Amino acid sequence: MNIAVVGAGRIGLPLACAFAERGHDVVACDVNDERVAMINRGENPIPDEEGLAELLAKMVGTGRLRAARDTRSAVADRETVLFAVAVDIDPDGRADLANLLSAADDVAAGVQAGALCIFDTTLPVGTTRATIGPRFEAAGKAIGRDVFVAFSPERLFMGRVLQDLKRYPSVVGGLEEESGRRAATFYAEALGNDVIQLQSAEAAELSKLAEGVYRDLNIALANELARVADLHGVDISEVTRAANSQPFCHLHVPGTGVGGHCIPVYPRFLVQGEGPSDLAALGRQVNDDMPAYAVRRLGELVGDLAGKRVLILGLTFRPNVAVTHHTNALDLKQEFEARGASVAGHDPLLTAAGSTSLGFQPASEPLEGYDIAVVHAYHREYAGLPWGKIAPLVLDARNAMDRDEVEATGARYLGIGRPVTPA
Ligand SMILES: NC(=O)c1ccc[n+]([C@@H]2O[C@H](COP(=O)([O-])OP(=O)(O)OC[C@H]3O[C@@H](n4cnc5c(N)ncnc54)[C@H](O)[C@@H]3O)[C@@H](O)[C@H]2O)c1
Repeated sequence: MNIAVVGAGRIGLPLACAFAERGHDVVACDVNDERVAMINRGENPIPDEEGLAELLAKMVGTGRLRAARDTRSAVADRETVLFAVAVDIDPDGRADLANLLSAADDVAAGVQAGALCIFDTTLPVGTTRATIGPRFEAAGKAIGRDVFVAFSPERLFMGRVLQDLKRYPSVVGGLEEESGRRAATFYAEALGNDVIQLQSAEAAELSKLAEGVYRDLNIALANELARVADLHGVDISEVTRAANSQPFCHLHVPGTGVGGHCIPVYPRFLVQGEGPSDLAALGRQVNDDMPAYAVRRLGELVGDLAGKRVLILGLTFRPNVAVTHHTNALDLKQEFEARGASVAGHDPLLTAAGSTSLGFQPASEPLEGYDIAVVHAYHREYAGLPWGKIAPLVLDARNAMDRDEVEATGARYLGIGRPVTPA
């Protein structure tokens, strides 16, 4: 098969490599000139994505993968075009479709008759039909006759995209029956994995929002329970272990918020549409309040935070990926600074300039002499650090650390919904 993937980012590029590995001829289209040039040299622009560097170099070497800047001409001979251009929220909390629609216009203008176009980017329900479909019609391509259009959400976890692609079934839904059928056949053949075909693009769009909102609300519930645990001085981690031993209970882990491109964004897609939205909005509020809650709790423990020296470790939105999108490390910083503390940041996955551009004063090495250390993203590199030298009190902001290991270094440990080590 010959395939184009439009948007050679964290999702699109591994996807393009996976198709090439299966023997297909793939062009990855992107508006980022530097990225296009790197890919064509066989260089990996996403170093923290496991296995990508080797696969990319190999696939470019075989000639089955190349990148292109001009989407319109690159798709002219493609049978299938997938879209993995990111959609974020605008300042009003609504989906910002500008990049995706621009990509759709390029493809609608260039694509050959009979091509299959699959939208992989998570969208508010109804967007593929109401907003994207008309771009093809405006270019003179009738859906279901000249072009076939379907939605298929990417369900991958950054850092292990290549593994997940082989593990999870593809979910597809078409704008009409033939588009859905063709999309299902495409995934079964192109990736060789199981396919769940739903009856419409809307059903497939909602299935992805359901996955994301489920996680956001589950974490919100875990956060609510963690706050109750704090009130009673019990440890939420043992409570969760006990509760989850019952097969209907799947409580997630509490923490100071939820970041990244996906989980904090998708509930807003649900909220902006029609339908039952209050619960999703409430979950967002609960999770958004967690940085303030954690800092209040530290204030209760150590007293006035004014003048305290705080080090935040792990500025990315989650461990082991160099992505700072919607990172809650910034919310923690603002909460400390609002109480007069001084805050430095440390992240082995970012350059000093990267930390500074986020607004953090980069910490100088060795890391020591702070009043409070906050571990926001517990990167692999942080295992075994001498916490007691860094600060006398460590806040494990996502309950990711082993409290015994922290305490063994002489530091006091505090988790979210986990009691502090007695003084
Ligand atoms: N990142 C994740 O963990 C994840 C997981 C599951 C699903 N997704 C979905 O995948 C989508 C893409 O996420 P990502 O992390 O790969 O984003 P990304 O920002 O890493 O990549 C998007 C790419 O699209 C390119 N682009 C922007 N406008 C373009 C245009 N008009 N034409 C061609 N290319 C264009 C950008 O230059 C960039 O390289 C998300 O919106 C989300 O719905 C992401």
